[in-house]
Amino acid sequence: MSDRTKTRSSEESRLMEMAVERLPGGVLGSARFPDDLGFVVKRGRGSKLWDVSGREYIDFLLGSGPMILGHAHPAVVAAVREQLEHGTTYFLVNEPVIKLADELCRAVPCAEQVRFTSTGSEATFFALRAARAWRKREKVLKFEGGYHGSHDYALMSSSPKSPKAFPAATPDSAGIPHVISGEVLIAPYNDLATVEALLAVHADTLAAVIVEPFQRLLAPMPGFLAGLRAVTSRYEIPLIFDEVVTGFRFAYGGAQEYYGVVPDLAALGKIIGGGFPLAAVCGREEIMKNFDPRFDGTPDFIAQVGTLNGNPIAAVAGLATLAELRKPGAYTRLHGTGRALRDGLAELVTQSGLPAQVIGETTVFDLVFTDRPLTDYRAMLTADGALLRAFNAECLKQGIVKGKEKLYVSLAHSDEDVKRALEVFGAALASLPRKAKTA
Ligand SMILES: Cc1ncc(COP(=O)(O)O)c(C=O)c1O
Repeated sequence: MSDRTKTRSSEESRLMEMAVERLPGGVLGSARFPDDLGFVVKRGRGSKLWDVSGREYIDFLLGSGPMILGHAHPAVVAAVREQLEHGTTYFLVNEPVIKLADELCRAVPCAEQVRFTSTGSEATFFALRAARAWRKREKVLKFEGGYHGSHDYALMSSSPKSPKAFPAATPDSAGIPHVISGEVLIAPYNDLATVEALLAVHADTLAAVIVEPFQRLLAPMPGFLAGLRAVTSRYEIPLIFDEVVTGFRFAYGGAQEYYGVVPDLAALGKIIGGGFPLAAVCGREEIMKNFDPRFDGTPDFIAQVGTLNGNPIAAVAGLATLAELRKPGAYTRLHGTGRALRDGLAELVTQSGLPAQVIGETTVFDLVFTDRPLTDYRAMLTADGALLRAFNAECLKQGIVKGKEKLYVSLAHSDEDVKRALEVFGAALASLPRKAKTA
């Protein structure tokens, strides 16, 4: 049980000061210090994390998704230990990475061939390049609010504060060349009619449509993904599923298996590297074959090299993770744990009377503070972010770590973890300020 009586040690305070001095904002990604993550991790095991002061947390962040077996899973640790003795990187094809490529092709419906990268951002970047090389067009269509990593084409209208009229793109970062905005068309998620209208006008300039099949927390409405598949096929535009989050999480075959719609290409990441830096582009051989260096010098060739791509440590960690996921009952258990937590949280929200709802699927979900129906990014903008931040901060104080806008579950979470988390969620909801009702 988490010992909440412990206070922050002088060692942890010293490390935090050093982090603030040496890392911009004292953080690694978009979390804000110290509100989002007011501790320094010392170690993790199973569903738990411990900070430098010795305080214990139940972890629903899970390294932002990869740790579907929990931290330091014995099978992953053993596989990595064994591989460490044989070398850590070769820049050459090796046994683990060939076996991983084969397993990805067995598992993921669209995958006939695989090209490895080190991050999910690279995977979406090279999926887009592959689509351009094959289709001999340049523009891409993505969805407002969709996140595909942090490269220039991806950081378009992922989180616009004041969205523009469709299909105009808004860059999400400083430092992105102006011209890129003109290369990306933006469409509303879950709105097939608008996508069809945009494609009717722009199909001839488009190289790809890229989508998170499950966009952040938004599930696809019935027929949306099938409709995207149909319209992109009609115009022969490659459809790319960004399955960096959903791959091996929603089902062994990812969202394409879960929702029953098969794209031309997919970007995979997170789980396939078992907690190490490894990601991949996979898809139809007809498009993927252009990564073959023998095409160098032809107009079809897709240049793509990375020093650590196909790293054997990451590959054995990924293979060990996938082997655990193939064990009978693994997904039933994962979805069962997620359902208990998600539905429990939803019930607490109803009881609280707060204008809030729980959205998402059983293995990725969160609380959103709005009572509006949520099907696209603009509806998500109506949510009260301050209330969510207050909820998250209260959870953290009580030893529950979650993402800023996401909860991931793992096979390591026990019934006891779910019970404890629900107690904390209930207390956190009760602690939130209520708006006075006007008569
Ligand atoms: C859907 C999606 N695509 C791409 C990425 C980028 O992956 P990475 O952080 O490994 O670059 C992420 C990261 O969270 C993601 O959620």
